[in-house]
Amino acid sequence: MKGTSLATILLAATSIAAVACQQAEQRAAAPSPVERGKYLVTAMGCNDCHTPWKLGEKGPEPDMTRMLSGHPEGMKLPPPPAVQPPWGPLATLTMTAWSGPWGITFTANLTPDQETGIGALSEENFVQAIRTGKHLGAGRDILPPMPWAWYGKMTDEDLKAVFAYLKSIPPIKNKVLDPVPPAPAGK
Ligand code: HEC
Repeated sequence: MKGTSLATILLAATSIAAVACQQAEQRAAAPSPVERGKYLVTAMGCNDCHTPWKLGEKGPEPDMTRMLSGHPEGMKLPPPPAVQPPWGPLATLTMTAWSGPWGITFTANLTPDQETGIGALSEENFVQAIRTGKHLGAGRDILPPMPWAWYGKMTDEDLKAVFAYLKSIPPIKNKVLDPVPPAPAGK
């Protein structure tokens, strides 16, 4: 009887130690918010639209020297050509200016530059913008093709991680244009 209880105690002690070890491992493996945010931004393709594309050796690719800096300031754009339905939205080769029934939109500068990026934006307003589809969390509607409705399904923790990562990347000064409303019908 005595032996059994000692064995039980030993067994219990071993499993407690095992659980503690596992928890410590998980803690050690848990990414920081910045690492988690980098993973999310990379896997969710933010660079596809927010990093200007250039012509690389193997064809068009995001120009990572301008990572997430949005539609390039000063880029001369002719009016978008007319498209025949069922063809729809058009993008520039940079993938940063988009034309469709919503007018013309330009991808935002997501770098932490104070004046032209998200440097002055609060975490709360960033989360609100992605959740509600309102500019800076409270303004006009955020227009296509920004997939805010899908990204808005992220947890608060993940949205904050995305923000923490964006705050950590090199700031790039690049002022992005406001959207252009659609031309009135018949024009
Ligand atoms: C399919 C292209 C596309 C992808 C992918 C995309 N965006 Fe956007 N994003 C846009 C466009 C276009 C705008 C500008 C919309 C406007 O001016 O209304 C925008 C605007 C924004 C804004 C500004 C919102 C505001 O307050 O006006 C933020 C922040 C943003 N995107 C974050 C992200 C993040 C983070 C990701 C990746 C998780 C991402 N975007 C992926 C196209 C995209």
